[in-house]
Amino acid sequence: QGGSTVSITVVGASGDLAKKKIFPALFALFYEGCLPEHFAVFGYARSKMSDEELRTMISRTLTCRIDKRENCGDKMEHFLQRCFYQSGQYNSEEEFAELDRKLKEKEAGRVPNRLFYLSIPPNIFVDVVRSASRTASSSGGWTRFIVEKPFGRDSESSGELTRSLKKHLAEEQIFRIDHYLGKELVENLSVLRFSNLVFEPLWSRNYIRNVQLIFSEDFGTDGRGGYFDNYGIIRDIMQNHLLQILALFAMETPVSLDAEDIRNEKVKVLRSMRQLKLEDVVVGQYKGHVKGGKSYPGYADDPTVPKGSITPTFAAAALFIDNARWDGVPFLMKAGKALHTRRAEIRVQFRSVPGNLYRRNIGSSDLDQATNELVLRVQPDEAIYLKINNKVPGLGMRLDRSNLNLLYSERYPREIPDAYERLLLDAIAGERRLFIRSDELDAAWAIFTPVLRQLEDKRVAPELYPYGSRGPVGAHYLAANYNVRWGDISSDDS
Ligand code: BG6
Repeated sequence: QGGSTVSITVVGASGDLAKKKIFPALFALFYEGCLPEHFAVFGYARSKMSDEELRTMISRTLTCRIDKRENCGDKMEHFLQRCFYQSGQYNSEEEFAELDRKLKEKEAGRVPNRLFYLSIPPNIFVDVVRSASRTASSSGGWTRFIVEKPFGRDSESSGELTRSLKKHLAEEQIFRIDHYLGKELVENLSVLRFSNLVFEPLWSRNYIRNVQLIFSEDFGTDGRGGYFDNYGIIRDIMQNHLLQILALFAMETPVSLDAEDIRNEKVKVLRSMRQLKLEDVVVGQYKGHVKGGKSYPGYADDPTVPKGSITPTFAAAALFIDNARWDGVPFLMKAGKALHTRRAEIRVQFRSVPGNLYRRNIGSSDLDQATNELVLRVQPDEAIYLKINNKVPGLGMRLDRSNLNLLYSERYPREIPDAYERLLLDAIAGERRLFIRSDELDAAWAIFTPVLRQLEDKRVAPELYPYGSRGPVGAHYLAANYNVRWGDISSDDS
């Protein structure tokens, strides 16, 4: 038979990420008709399981979108019939060879393309890649590996991981995921900048005072303390998710939308960034808190966290890009767990209008507070809004700050695909635009490695903040050093 086929092997099939994200994303793609006609999904893990048991496990994780209930049950059944299981050790060439035999059966003489999703701890990445690439690579089609962070803990260990992977794989075979790049609003950032006349001309130090990248979650590490304690919030969120957004925000116009053109620009801007300094960082850790009769545990109360841990669960940082476009503009990042709200957003604060004719009519005594601000809310409730000064209707002349508001749920009342759907689809299509190239990764680590080392060597104690609060006050002082106020706490925020 002619044609090609794709096999997707989820290595670490019984893990959390696989159950929560990867299988549901694969099913959503199948439902939408986005998977190739001939495909198979394999689970690979150490525990013994039959195909039927895997199917039962997966079926518990699948849901139908609210607007796509039609035939959903049938489609699920069809999808599950294409799911199979192979048990094996992660370093066993024999067991991957066994997988290879099963893959070949399903491939039935078509051109075999193989995608491996490594949903496993980083200490076994290289074992899996070595064994799978030796005995379960496609012959005649492509073989790709998706890997997910952590990519090392610093420049050195990340470089070591890259070198080890490249002993077995070519760079084109490695798809390093940063799932924030698959989020709708993050992808839209480039559209907003490069497809509208009104933003790009303002996109520089001439008009922008500061840029804020904010991530907060309203829950703690919840049993993930074992993983988290070894990394901390700077490695977990800032060095990857927030820095990737920053790179897309600040890069120069790429030559085209080709992956290499875009990634070239991202590397350039990352390499123009200053190494982060200790005095430009504030770290915090959440402590237990009782609210409304309910008690919320502190980070250190998590039994999976080592006693006396000083790992930060919150950090704020001021970063700088030393190039012509951004010279002197602070890029402030803030990321934390167990805060009062869950959100991720980009805030762009513009300079004040020189010689503003209406300065007397602005309600706020502080003219600095009456500047334009563009907000891209990545989640929840995706939105783009621009704060403008506007005349309050009536006979007088009083201004207030109002929002020009694009609320996705109103404008596009359909469910937005999960980030993993887009990324899996791209990996299958060989589209690398949203994946991290190794030189990007090196540049990203170069910015954070010195400060991470200093924090650890000096055992800098995190400022404790109550579970469910707005985080350490230190973040305000840090921003104030650069004449910045965090936009997410301003009184007129929507
Ligand atoms: C992961 C982090 O990369 O991103 C987690 O390891 C974090 O700590 C998660 O909770 C947040 O992702 P999302 O898509 O839920 O915002």
